[in-house]
Amino acid sequence: MLKVGVFGVGHLGKFHLNNWKEIEGVKLVGFYDPDNETARMVTEQYGLKRFSDEKKLMDACDIVDVIAPTTYHFDLCMQAVRKGKHVFVEKPLAHTIQEGRDLVNMVREANVKMQVGHVERFNPAYLAIRDMSLNPMFIEVHRLAQFNPRGTEVSVILDLMIHDIDIILSLVKSDVKHISASGVAVMTDTPDIANVRIEFNNGCVANLTSSRISMKKMRKIRLFQKDAYIGIDFLEKKTEIIKLKGADDRNVFSFDIETPNGKKTIAIANPAVQPLNAIKLELEAFVDSIVSNKPTVVSEIDGFLAMEVAHQILDKINNTSILV
Ligand SMILES: NC(=O)c1ccc[n+]([C@@H]2O[C@H](COP(=O)([O-])OP(=O)(O)OC[C@H]3O[C@@H](n4cnc5c(N)ncnc54)[C@H](O)[C@@H]3O)[C@@H](O)[C@H]2O)c1
Repeated sequence: MLKVGVFGVGHLGKFHLNNWKEIEGVKLVGFYDPDNETARMVTEQYGLKRFSDEKKLMDACDIVDVIAPTTYHFDLCMQAVRKGKHVFVEKPLAHTIQEGRDLVNMVREANVKMQVGHVERFNPAYLAIRDMSLNPMFIEVHRLAQFNPRGTEVSVILDLMIHDIDIILSLVKSDVKHISASGVAVMTDTPDIANVRIEFNNGCVANLTSSRISMKKMRKIRLFQKDAYIGIDFLEKKTEIIKLKGADDRNVFSFDIETPNGKKTIAIANPAVQPLNAIKLELEAFVDSIVSNKPTVVSEIDGFLAMEVAHQILDKINNTSILV
C-alpha cells in the first residue's frame, strides 16, 4: 500500500483527495495546508489528519502530491525528492526555469518518479484520437476562461497556455524554430491574454490564443494535416475527424466531391469519447509507473520542456508588447 500526503487542499487539492480515496493500492495519510479555515473544512469533511509540519508529513508518506500555488512547487518538490519520495506536482512544474532545471537534475539523481499534472493528456477527447496517425502541419488553439483570482500568481501563459504547449510538444515531433508572441496584462500585473505563433523545424506552425478574462469558456485544439482535419474539444469532450477517403470504423459517413484533381471522397467521423475522469486516470497512471517501475506519462522533463517554451513566450511578450 503506497502512502500519500497531499500538500495544498484548495480548489484542485480537494479533487485530488476525492480521487485518491477511489484509487486502489494507495492510502491517504494526511495533508498539509497553511490556511487554517481550509484545513478545518478538510479535516471535518474528509476526516483526514492535518499535519502542521510539512517535513513530518513527507516522512510519513511514499507519494508527495503537490497542489500548492506554483510559487511553492519548487520548495515542496525539492524537499520531497531529497527525502527519496515520489512526487506528483501540479502544472507548471515550477515557477522559474532555474527551479525547473534543478528539479529535473534532482529527480534523476534521487532515482524517484515525478509526474507533472498536465491533465489534458488524460482528457477523454484527446485519448479518443491518440491511436490516429498524427502529423499536424498547422495547429489552431483556443483556451479561454472567465476571470478567477486563483492561479493569477503566474501569467496566463504559465497558468493556462502551458496545457496546450504540453499537448503540442507531445504531438509535434520536432524542435521549436521560432516563437512570436503578443500579450496584454489587463486584470493582473502579468499577461492575462496572449496570442502566440510557434514555428517548428519540420514546418508545422501552431497558433495559440489563451485568455483568462473571457466572458465564455473554450478549450479547443484543431489539427490540420495532409489527409485530415482533427478537432478536439477538451471542454465539451468531443472530437471530429474529417478525412480524405480512408473511411474507418469511427461513426463515419462519407460523400464524394469533384475537385480539379478528380473525384475525392470525404469521410466524417466522431470517434466515441469515453466518460472518463481525467484526474483519476492521471493519478492511477502515476501509481502504475511507481508500482511497475516505468516512466511517468508526463515526466519532469516534459514539464520542464513545456515551461521552457512558456518562458520563451514570456520573454517575447516582455520584449515586444505593451503591458497595460
Ligand atoms: N491541472 C489543472 O488543470 C489545474 C487546474 C487548477 C490549478 N492547477 C494548479 O494547482 C495548483 C493549485 O491551484 P488551486 O486552483 O487549487 O489553488 P488554490 O488557491 O485553490 O489552492 C491552493 C492551496 O494551497 C495552499 N498552500 C499555500 N501555500 C502552501 C504550501 N507552502 N504548502 C502547502 N499548501 C499551500 C493554500 O492555502 C490553498 O489552500 C497550482 O499550481 C495550479 O497551477 C492545475
